[in-house]
Amino acid sequence: MTAGSGDALIEVEGVKRIFGRGSGAVTVLHDVSLEIPAGKLIAFKGRSGSGKTTLMNLLSTLDRPTEGRVCFEGQDLTGLSDRERDEIRRTQMGLVFQSFALIPLMSAYENVEFVLRISGIPAREREAAAIAALDLVGLKPRMHHRPFELSGGEQQRTAIARAIAHKPKLILADEPTAELDSRTGLHIIKVFRDLVQQGLTVVITTHDPAIMEIVDHVYELEDGRIVANH
Ligand SMILES: Nc1ncnc2c1ncn2[C@@H]1O[C@H](COP(=O)(O)OP(=O)(O)OP(=O)(O)O)[C@@H](O)[C@H]1O
Ligand SMILES: [Mg+2]
Repeated sequence: MTAGSGDALIEVEGVKRIFGRGSGAVTVLHDVSLEIPAGKLIAFKGRSGSGKTTLMNLLSTLDRPTEGRVCFEGQDLTGLSDRERDEIRRTQMGLVFQSFALIPLMSAYENVEFVLRISGIPAREREAAAIAALDLVGLKPRMHHRPFELSGGEQQRTAIARAIAHKPKLILADEPTAELDSRTGLHIIKVFRDLVQQGLTVVITTHDPAIMEIVDHVYELEDGRIVANH
């Protein structure tokens, strides 16, 4: 794949991310260029500290590169205002954070419903969409429990339900199967595969070799560089 081939949902061009300044500055991404083709399941793999989460945060508009560009549907995200970036993220993207980031006082159902509300889904559609997403990840029977009453894997699946419920164009999931046993992990990847079948684009980070087999494309990171691509 070459940059600008036209069917990419996201293009990353010459991206550098440096944290800190002066003698304390750390370069976490060095000249990263890649494409996320539309309608595919893509994985980032690499050791702890290789830069996967940093790269995900740039794709999701939560962070900006120090140098280089990130384009979403041909639009340069780096030039947009915070408000424009928020709007794209809320309406077009679904994020699954490595730390889940569930709201503790809300049940699994309310966590999902809340995101539908802020992404602008009409009230009459929200209940069915939230329940459908929780059902897809196998959590419907537990949906009225709050995060502290759920296991780590159930919290992770709630976070996934929350990211997919509004049927975003792009799902960015950071280690979405880390807390899951291999069978439940494969079930979640199948949920992602079904969404890709419906035309969504999914990017995950993972260490799991079994999952690497099922994705369409793997970018391998080492010390903030893409070292392999297959
Ligand atoms: N805000 C920050 N300030 C300084 N250094 C940072 C910051 N965020 C991340 N880093 C450093 O950047 C490097 C890459 O971090 P990142 O979280 O992207 O790794 P990762 O590949 O996601 O690792 P893991 O598999 O453990 O989640 C690490 O060395 C980390 O300490
Ligand atoms: Mg990480």
